[in-house]
Amino acid sequence: MTLTRSRTDRMIASVAPVLDFYEHGTWERHHLDPDIADFAFGNPQEMPLPGLVDTLQRHAVPENKDWFAYKTSEEEPRQVVAEVLRGRTGLAYEPEDVALTAGAFGALGVTIRALCDVGDEVIFLSPPWFFYELMIESSGATPVRVRLDGPDFALATDAIAAAITPQTRAIIVNSPHNPSGRIYREPELAALGRVLTEASARHGRPIILISDEAYNRIVFDGIEFRSPALDYDATLTIYTYGKTLLAPGQRIGYAALSPTFPDRRASMSRIMIQQIASGWGFPNALLQHSISDLESLSVDIAALQARRDRMVPALREMGYEVTRPEGTFYVMARSPEPDDVAFAERLAGLGAIVLPGSMAELPGWFRISLTASDAMVERGLEAFRAAMIRR
Ligand SMILES: Cc1ncc(COP(=O)(O)O)c(C=O)c1O
Repeated sequence: MTLTRSRTDRMIASVAPVLDFYEHGTWERHHLDPDIADFAFGNPQEMPLPGLVDTLQRHAVPENKDWFAYKTSEEEPRQVVAEVLRGRTGLAYEPEDVALTAGAFGALGVTIRALCDVGDEVIFLSPPWFFYELMIESSGATPVRVRLDGPDFALATDAIAAAITPQTRAIIVNSPHNPSGRIYREPELAALGRVLTEASARHGRPIILISDEAYNRIVFDGIEFRSPALDYDATLTIYTYGKTLLAPGQRIGYAALSPTFPDRRASMSRIMIQQIASGWGFPNALLQHSISDLESLSVDIAALQARRDRMVPALREMGYEVTRPEGTFYVMARSPEPDDVAFAERLAGLGAIVLPGSMAELPGWFRISLTASDAMVERGLEAFRAAMIRR
């Protein structure tokens, strides 16, 4: 596939708002202010988990001459992941079904390239994670957007069914959903499974469900995350340790083909070739050695939930319309003024940075990341109050 200039321009356009915000906009201008409350991205605002530091230090000490040799998807970490997936889903995942990747980002990039042809359509749900459209475009496939309606952002299976064509090769489903915090349950996933099974049969080739589960361990209120692989055979699960460890700069994650995935050995070979072609897109040796210990570590979910429970009622009491996330790091709120970018700039002047909804195809809203520290939450609430008063 050659990258045409118009395709590259579409890639640039798809991420321009968020890159602008990051490189030249409100975040860039305000995030170094020592008093700012930074709710913009799912980035750590406090020191890393002590257990993560210990794990990395321990596994940095070589145990044999191959410790830092070239690594692909190594046997031991693949076994760890397969066992975890078996435990979480009850499905018979095997180590050979797992590709270790540079986070969910890396997994998405290589799997779309490996499993889609130029001109195939890939459906994504809007509001989306910022980079889906970019990654679909860059692979040579064609992005197809299906909108979810707020404030509940339910999985719109009728709209998905209507968007499917004979060219549809894949759909990306993200649960727990960034930015709405929704977690899709059995009835909606079963309905989606029926739609995809029926459409695959009608068009004579399986539609791949790419399940982006970056936040599958960031769940609140004891809700159980359900894997879409339980309701649909051709499911590919994508995961990153970056969210659970709140260390997205340490790049490790995976793509795993469900045991019922069609033609899975050939599909895994294609994924591996794309990993090599993408510039040796495998996680570093140190992270692969660490994976079994990383599995047992997590950001403090109770603290995230407590921040949600502090912020949501406080913002509602101030007059904001706010979602109550079931999982993820994010709370969505309706901007009190129609221009969410202008509102975010005004709010930053008062001491809090949020992500304007326009960055996630949701103009008129803004997103708050609960990865802010407790002190930032308290300072931030003052800024939100002041922004509501001084309109
Ligand atoms: C929904 C979703 N998918 C994928 C990613 C990418 O995760 P990572 O950078 O850990 O690979 C993110 C990160 O923000 C995300 O929110």
